[in-house]
Amino acid sequence: MTRPLWTIGEIAKAVGAKSSAHPDAHVTGVSIDSRSLAPQEAFIAIRGANHDGHGFVAAAFTEGAACAIVEKGFPAQGRADKLLRVTDTLAALRDLGSAARARVERAVVIAVTGSAGKTGTKEGLKLALSPSGSVHVSAKSHNNHWGVPLSLANMRRGVAFGVFEAGMNHAGEILGLSKLIRPHIAIVTTVEPVHLGFFRSVAEIADAKAEIFESLERGGAAILNRDNPYYDRLRRHALEHEARVIGFGAAKGAEARLLEVDLRADGSDVKADILGETISYRLGAPGLHLVQNSLAVLAAVKLARANLASAARALSRWSAQTGRGERVVIDTGAGRLALIDETYNANPASMRAALATLALTPREEYPRRVAVLGDMLELGGQGPKLHLELAEFVDAAGVDVVFACGELMVGLYDSLPPSRQGGYAKTAEQLAPLLAKGVGAGDVVMIKGSFGSRMAPLVEALQRHFDTAGAQA
Ligand SMILES: Nc1ncnc2c1ncn2[C@@H]1O[C@H](COP(=O)(O)OP(=O)(O)O)[C@@H](O)[C@H]1O
Ligand SMILES: [Mg+2]
Repeated sequence: MTRPLWTIGEIAKAVGAKSSAHPDAHVTGVSIDSRSLAPQEAFIAIRGANHDGHGFVAAAFTEGAACAIVEKGFPAQGRADKLLRVTDTLAALRDLGSAARARVERAVVIAVTGSAGKTGTKEGLKLALSPSGSVHVSAKSHNNHWGVPLSLANMRRGVAFGVFEAGMNHAGEILGLSKLIRPHIAIVTTVEPVHLGFFRSVAEIADAKAEIFESLERGGAAILNRDNPYYDRLRRHALEHEARVIGFGAAKGAEARLLEVDLRADGSDVKADILGETISYRLGAPGLHLVQNSLAVLAAVKLARANLASAARALSRWSAQTGRGERVVIDTGAGRLALIDETYNANPASMRAALATLALTPREEYPRRVAVLGDMLELGGQGPKLHLELAEFVDAAGVDVVFACGELMVGLYDSLPPSRQGGYAKTAEQLAPLLAKGVGAGDVVMIKGSFGSRMAPLVEALQRHFDTAGAQA
């Protein structure tokens, strides 16, 4: 019989709690959300900014929780036999994560950080490493002070590879995550001006990302973007921690180097030199930015001593995820419209990448290029300037018409010639009817903005609009 993820006895020991439950009782997962909890999982009651998990302990038991970790003093509610009491439940989650990390001493552990591309790169690593052994990756974008320990706590003891996303809004955050992950390999996808509200400069952002090297395991490696202006700065940090430094990119001297690339709307054909081995592969999702990420993935595969050829083959199944470049074709009744859904989030780097990728759609298929742009948030005082600077990339992508919403995007919109102004509204919601009227068959429409700009409903609104339009036709 395979061993369970945890027994209650092991959890109690890891978090330093007494438990009257049967110590050998099986626990199949660790959850902090009663809504997604599966039977036999352990529930940890975390105090969040908006909710206190202690209010959902009863719900967790209704869903079949094997046990719950709660703060001392929490009323037993007839479940005393299934409660593990601690002074600090978040600390307990960290302890459990550390215990999970400690027991996989033979696994290769990889941490992924960077200003954009963390989640995609993590998923790419899962694809690429799977042919070589079992892979555990963080769920969704779980990359913060609770997401990282939760991801660790759900790692099975026998995995061959563990891949964890580490994110941050301010300095010091990644340091704590690095201590928990203790990676053998740390990837920094790219360094860009994001979360500038909390930093004085992009150099400071680079320094904060470099905290990932702090708890690198002895003999570990740093995989860094050779094409990024902060490469040297990151490299210096990595060397201070005695890391082996591997650069990826198109630049001469990159150890994971792009040799040739054919960028198309449905993916890319790539030839690369990965630490001395030349390899050709097809990447299943479009954009040079994803090609870059794939070089980091293959460098990690090679360093992890996994199979490079099967990894490269697996990358043909790399797909753009919901809100991160996913392509939907809508039948308008009068012809096809292609929708590129980039509504999950936006910063200047991912905006540039999305615009460049929009330009890969052949004119013969979709003659008109439309960009629907919402505000990029958390840029501090630099916000207005960084929005205006997109104009150059809108031009370069050959965008014919721009729709825009938000107080920051108005600057860019006003700077465009009237012939390229499709419509502007303060909010995405108000933009929806203008957009529905303004686009149609033969258009490729890319929609992007920060999560807080609420662009996702625009995708749904367009789909609904053409559903009804199609039905009437
Ligand atoms: N290397 C990159 N440079 C610029 N943009 C990127 C890069 N990798 C991915 N992106 C874009 O950034 C957005 C977020 O991607 P995601 O993988 O979710 O990143 P993260 O987890 O860092 O937020 C997507 O629109 C994606 O296409
Ligand atoms: Mg993410």
